[in-house]
Amino acid sequence: MKDIVWGQILSIEVDEIDDDHRKLVNIFNILNHAVMEGESPDYLAAVLAELVNCTVWHFSHEERLMLKYGYEGIEEHKAVHLELVKGAKELQEKILQADKTIADEDIEYLERWLTEHILTDDMRLGAYLSQVM
Ligand SMILES: [Fe+2]
Ligand SMILES: [Fe+2]
Repeated sequence: MKDIVWGQILSIEVDEIDDDHRKLVNIFNILNHAVMEGESPDYLAAVLAELVNCTVWHFSHEERLMLKYGYEGIEEHKAVHLELVKGAKELQEKILQADKTIADEDIEYLERWLTEHILTDDMRLGAYLSQVM
């Protein structure tokens, strides 16, 4: 699996959110490398926990900005965040309990999980925030 390369295409034109997204992309890439290099299950679980925890924090950050700047789509966006966290936690459970390895399909899932939300819901949020912040 290739790394996610940060670039203009992922920018939502709001620096403080882009900074978070860049951080999440970095952790994803660390995880991807850890899988390719055959790191131990404990290490993989630790990196995945870092990614999930950082994402939960990042979602609170976005939700605070939505509140502060009166974003109309807040409820829908929060619902998507909830689903994304649920998906990641299910994957975490699966990895901890079952095979203790992260398969290619899990990495592909996480890649979509990370980028599709940025490219759709976050992009709409960015278009709004960059007007009002
Ligand atoms: Fe985001
Ligand atoms: Fe978001």
